[in-house]
Amino acid sequence: MNKYEQIQRTLIESPKTWLVTGVAGFIGSNLLETLLKLNQVVVGLDNFATGHQRNLDEVKILVSDKQWSHFTFIEGDIRDTKICQQAVTGVDYVLHQAALGSVPRSIVDPITSNAANITGFLNMLDASKEAQVKSFTYAASSSTYGDHPELPKVEENIGNPLSPYAVTKYVNELYAGVYARTYGFKTIGLRYFNVFGPRQDPNGAYAAVIPKWAASMLRNEKVFINGDGETSRDFCFIANTVQMNILAATADSEAKDQVYNVALGDRTTLNKLYFSIQSALNGLGFLHSEKPIYRDFRVGDVRHSQADISKAKSKLGYSPQYKIDQGIESVMPWYKKLICS
Ligand SMILES: NC(=O)c1ccc[n+]([C@@H]2O[C@H](COP(=O)([O-])OP(=O)(O)OC[C@H]3O[C@@H](n4cnc5c(N)ncnc54)[C@H](O)[C@@H]3O)[C@@H](O)[C@H]2O)c1
Repeated sequence: MNKYEQIQRTLIESPKTWLVTGVAGFIGSNLLETLLKLNQVVVGLDNFATGHQRNLDEVKILVSDKQWSHFTFIEGDIRDTKICQQAVTGVDYVLHQAALGSVPRSIVDPITSNAANITGFLNMLDASKEAQVKSFTYAASSSTYGDHPELPKVEENIGNPLSPYAVTKYVNELYAGVYARTYGFKTIGLRYFNVFGPRQDPNGAYAAVIPKWAASMLRNEKVFINGDGETSRDFCFIANTVQMNILAATADSEAKDQVYNVALGDRTTLNKLYFSIQSALNGLGFLHSEKPIYRDFRVGDVRHSQADISKAKSKLGYSPQYKIDQGIESVMPWYKKLICS
């Protein structure tokens, strides 16, 4: 039995109370689903800025009535200190996911991204410290590596941020460090690298590449690749990300006051990704043979990204179960159902 299986067993035997912020979003709703299936008690907080009621409705269908009865939803904004204090009351573990994602969104409107991602983060961090929760785990980002050229990315070596979004996520790490040194409140930051999976929103100007391309192919719309297609990313299936959150939340004190890469430790070019999605859809009987259309590189994007995941493996017992093609194959039926039914 690996570390994750052991922790899951312990949690089932002795359920805890969790707060998931951003619970109506992609990663938050997947955390909710897994935690409820482990018979945990979950409080969720979201203001529906980018999340959806339909994500919560879907989780409700995927768990038992009894498990769903262990979920309490607070509709509220992390920029409101009182809401944050209310949400952490009686909570053991905080998984802070709420933020405005997307590099381009932050370039268009840095002020709003700053308010949600920095002020909102600080409100949640402070409320969690005051409530003396057992642990505070937060969504950091691979964008913190900025212009540092090293590959694969190792946690200690970061460059200059390339977008307002990257600044916000780096400031989260700085505050987390200060809270450990000043108040002894030790947290864990998870630097996510391009997470994908069911309930990731395919719509809107700031959709991530996998949902956007899957939806475009399923709608017979043109698919655009920014640049020459040789830009690469370390795409990480959601189940691996959920695993890291649960390992981090329940980690010993020595593993805290740290950031960890959350990825597969592999690199896939956009050209390869395009054909993986196309072939997974073809496997579902949806024939798509169009070629992509290449256009200019996007401002603020780094050229290559790949994580070194050895720290997560050695300190937290992380063992990613899904490779990229397995993840793509398992998520495409979800997009097919969403778009075609
Ligand atoms: N998806 C990725 O690849 C990725 C990569 C790096 C980091 N992250 C981080 O992971 C976290 C979750 O991302 P996601 O992909 O699930 O995005 P998402 O947009 O699907 O989820 C974010 C959720 O936060 C909520 N939210 C935003 N502002 C809020 C506010 N002021 N008050 C309360 N709720 C608020 C949104 O309504 C949404 O439900 C974010 O912090 C994001 O920056 C994601």
